[in-house]
Amino acid sequence: MDNLKHTFDAIAEGKFSDPSSSPEIPVRSFDPERSRKLACGIDPLEPAPKENFTWFNPALHKGRAARMEAQHLVTDFKHWAGGGAMKFLTVLGGVGIGKTDLAKTAVWRLTPKWHNRHSYYITASEFDKRVKDFASVKGQAGAVSVDPDEWVERLAATENLVIDDIGAGYIDRGWTQSRLERLIDLRWRYSLPTVIISNLSRENLKAEVGDRAFSRLEDKSIGVMLELTHLSDIRQLDVKERKA
Ligand SMILES: Nc1ncnc2c1ncn2[C@@H]1O[C@H](COP(=O)(O)OP(=O)(O)OP(=O)(O)O)[C@@H](O)[C@H]1O
Ligand SMILES: [Mg+2]
Repeated sequence: MDNLKHTFDAIAEGKFSDPSSSPEIPVRSFDPERSRKLACGIDPLEPAPKENFTWFNPALHKGRAARMEAQHLVTDFKHWAGGGAMKFLTVLGGVGIGKTDLAKTAVWRLTPKWHNRHSYYITASEFDKRVKDFASVKGQAGAVSVDPDEWVERLAATENLVIDDIGAGYIDRGWTQSRLERLIDLRWRYSLPTVIISNLSRENLKAEVGDRAFSRLEDKSIGVMLELTHLSDIRQLDVKERKA
C-alpha cells in the first residue's frame, strides 16, 4: 500500500500520470497466453464506445414516469462525466436500459483512448475471476508478482473506474466480497470517480456487497444512487422503433 500512496495522493491532487501503477502491470507473465487470460478491463479489440450521449433517447420509453427516469439516468451520467462534485454514481435497474453503454460513453468522455489505463471498466464476475486467478497462479513459475490484494489496490488507484453487473455470477462471495469492499472503500476514501452498476434492488445490493460498502455507495456527500423501476428493455424494440 505504501508504494501506492503516492499514486492516491497524485490522484487526489489531480496529477495522476504514473503508468507503472496500472492494474495490468502485476499480471504480466513471461507466458503470453497466461498474460492474455489474466488481462481484464477493456479489450483493445472492442469497438470504441459512442463518443457523446446523443444516442440515448429517453422518448423510447412509454409513459411519463419512465421518460423522466430515463432523463434522470442520462443527466446523472453527464454530470459524472463532467468531472464535478459527484464522484460516485450507483445505477440500479433492469436489463437493456442503457446502463453499460452510458457508463462506457461517460468514461470515454473523461479519458478518450482508455487503453492508456487511466480508466478502467470491469464486470463484477471478471473481478471475481481475476482475484481467484491471481491467487491460484501466485508463486508459480512464469507468473510475476501476482498478488490479488496488490492488484485490487492498483485497480483502486485508477483514475476512473466502472464496476458493471454487480450481482451476476459470484461463486465465492466471502472471498470476493471482502476485496470488493476494500476496492469500494479505497475509491470512497480518496473520492475517486466510480460508477457501480447492477440489476439488483437496493436491498439485494446491500446483501451482495455488504453493509459497509453499501453505506459508502449511499454517501450523499460524494454521490448519487439511482434506483430505476419504470424503464423497459430497449433490446426488445426493433431497429425501426429504436430510431423513433
Ligand atoms: N434510451 C435509449 N436510447 C437509445 N438506445 C438505447 C437506450 N437505452 C438502451 N439503448 C441501447 O440498448 C442496448 C442495451 O443497452 P445496455 O447494454 O447499455 O443495457 P444495460 O442496461 O447495461 O443492460 P444489462 O443489465 O442487460 O447489462 C444498447 O445497444 C444501448 O445502446
Ligand atoms: Mg450492461
